[in-house]
Amino acid sequence: MKYNNLEYRIRSYFLKIDTRDYFFSPLLKFLYKFITINKKIENLKKIKIKKKIDNDLIHNGFKQLDSNDEIKNLIYNRSYEIFESEEFKKEASNRKTYLNQYKIDLSSKKNHIYLKLILSNNLINTIHGYLGNNVVLSNLQLWHSKNEDFVSGGSQDLHMDGEDTKQIKLFFYLSDVDKDAGPLSVISKKQSKILNYRKNNKNFIKRKTQKISDNEFKNISSNIEIHSMTGSKGSINLIDTSNCYHFGSRPGKKSRKVLMYQFISSYSYYLPMKKNYSSQIYSSEILSSDEINIINTLLY
Ligand SMILES: [Fe+2]
Repeated sequence: MKYNNLEYRIRSYFLKIDTRDYFFSPLLKFLYKFITINKKIENLKKIKIKKKIDNDLIHNGFKQLDSNDEIKNLIYNRSYEIFESEEFKKEASNRKTYLNQYKIDLSSKKNHIYLKLILSNNLINTIHGYLGNNVVLSNLQLWHSKNEDFVSGGSQDLHMDGEDTKQIKLFFYLSDVDKDAGPLSVISKKQSKILNYRKNNKNFIKRKTQKISDNEFKNISSNIEIHSMTGSKGSINLIDTSNCYHFGSRPGKKSRKVLMYQFISSYSYYLPMKKNYSSQIYSSEILSSDEINIINTLLY
């Protein structure tokens, strides 16, 4: 208990002093790696996942893929079962008015189909190629955006995420997403850095997580291009939301349903210092034993 208390205090302190910028934040993370030497030992014990280098993803920070896998239909079925459940209606409507978010419970065997998806199309290898060896699946959620209202100061405004110095969010579309369905909209890594500098040029610390309103963007947007990640049901989008400005769920004529996976480094101080072995998978009707071994390296 004493240790937990100390751990909580250390992590809270790091969260508090993290500048979430391009310069000081990586330094702080480097320091945290020394403190959490136990994580290093844990990582050495992990089986190594083959890395696939995707130059587009590395260069731009985002990438859209199409997969024709048969897993897709199983994912739709399970997801729509959840969307229609009382539990979804109760849990998902609590927080943001413009976005209903529901955390998927991976201890339920029915939900192992979601893990099967990341083993297909070399997705897990591409994610390791981008983030390195110590990758953790930190969140898996179903999102339903009604796209009816706009709330300024939230994720409908341009922003970058702050859970790590780099991360990958994988969005699997559960409905067709066109310009009228509040698509995720992204600025490349390189242009995001330029935009961040323009926004903060007078500040010593250039925070990445501060929101940029549309009005402010108009004044600093020359040569900055916003890519609208439209795509049909079943398309897969990989985005480094820590390094690419983005927004989504803006008002439109149609609603949007997506599945969101978040991958960060195991050294992020958003995660507990010790891996929770009770979250590991020991048996599955959907995953083979080799697949379970790979997935368990991702579960923290
Ligand atoms: Fe975000």
